[in-house]
Amino acid sequence: MDTNIARNRAELSGKLTIVLDSRSLTNSHKRLSEILSKGMTVLDVGCGTGSITRGIAEMVGPNGRVVGMDSNPNLIEKARQDHGDIPGLTFETGDIYNLPYEGQFDIVTSARVLVWLSNPLKALHMMKSAAKIGGRIVIADYNHEKISWEPQPPASMISFYYAYLKWRSDAGMDNAIADQLPAMFRDLGIEEINNPSA
Ligand SMILES: C[S@@+](CC[C@H](N)C(=O)[O-])C[C@H]1O[C@@H](n2cnc3c(N)ncnc32)[C@H](O)[C@@H]1O
Repeated sequence: MDTNIARNRAELSGKLTIVLDSRSLTNSHKRLSEILSKGMTVLDVGCGTGSITRGIAEMVGPNGRVVGMDSNPNLIEKARQDHGDIPGLTFETGDIYNLPYEGQFDIVTSARVLVWLSNPLKALHMMKSAAKIGGRIVIADYNHEKISWEPQPPASMISFYYAYLKWRSDAGMDNAIADQLPAMFRDLGIEEINNPSA
């Protein structure tokens, strides 16, 4: 599968900055917020406009180190403008498939990013390499196939939704990525897996 097709389609999400800006650590990456502590080092890959990353930096405090990374330079520019004043927090343009870190972070995290990739296992492999030995990988993601509707929308909306899922899977993206993660973690040799949605 050509990873560029997924890259181009994932790029569209970069225009939705209002949605990204509305997110926060506690409302959009709750599990991570529960395990952060002062002084930690954290890499947030696919950080978008940095609103969740800001919350991470506030929680680990000025003695910690937090890097937000995204492949979209426009989002990184906006993240620096909006959150660049937080001590210990930096933003870098970069690709999850080519992380320039080796054994540096207590936690390597991504939220709603693997669902946009055609090779999430390779991305997880890079994330594992960026983590310290004994560090943690923390993923928040979706299974779009488990959607339930209440109330039931019009038939036209349902057919639009399934066309959207096909548009995604045609580009090699896994619409059910959240439920593939435990097996992928095991493939990477990660033994201790905590799956709060199971
Ligand atoms: C849906 S947004 C999620 C942003 C943020 N994590 C959040 O939860 O609000 C997905 C992000 O992943 C980024 N992304 C997609 N492919 C990437 C890649 N190969 N490397 C790094 N970031 C990538 C996109 O630019 C986008 O900002």
